[in-house]
Amino acid sequence: MQQLALGEELYKKNCKVCHAQGLNGAPIVGNKKMWGPRAEQGLETLVEHATNGFGLMPAKGGKTELADSDISAVVKYMLSQIQ
Ligand code: HEC
Repeated sequence: MQQLALGEELYKKNCKVCHAQGLNGAPIVGNKKMWGPRAEQGLETLVEHATNGFGLMPAKGGKTELADSDISAVVKYMLSQIQ
């Protein structure tokens, strides 16, 4: 499967519950204002934060069974939605 499509699929299953609504201040996917300063940290830092947890963001969104490469695919998808 193409990486962005895989990322989107994993996002819907594991991350959307918080990241579509902005639950607890989660940056809403597609919202440039919310992602701007976060995106500036770069892919590597964002993946590290999503993998290990960051503030109110639980490690791997609470889905510890996800592979590190899955998290990376979702973050790439999230970044691709910023417009
Ligand atoms: C239980 C709700 C919840 C789920 C599920 C969740 N997130 Fe988050 N996420 C958050 C919150 C809240 C923040 C903001 C954290 C902060 O800044 O304190 C966040 C922030 C982030 C950030 C930005 C980190 C940064 O450095 O600014 C990324 C990337 C991220 N989440 C990725 C993911 C991925 C990938 C998944 C699915 C595997 C996921 N999240 C699932 C709540 C969630």
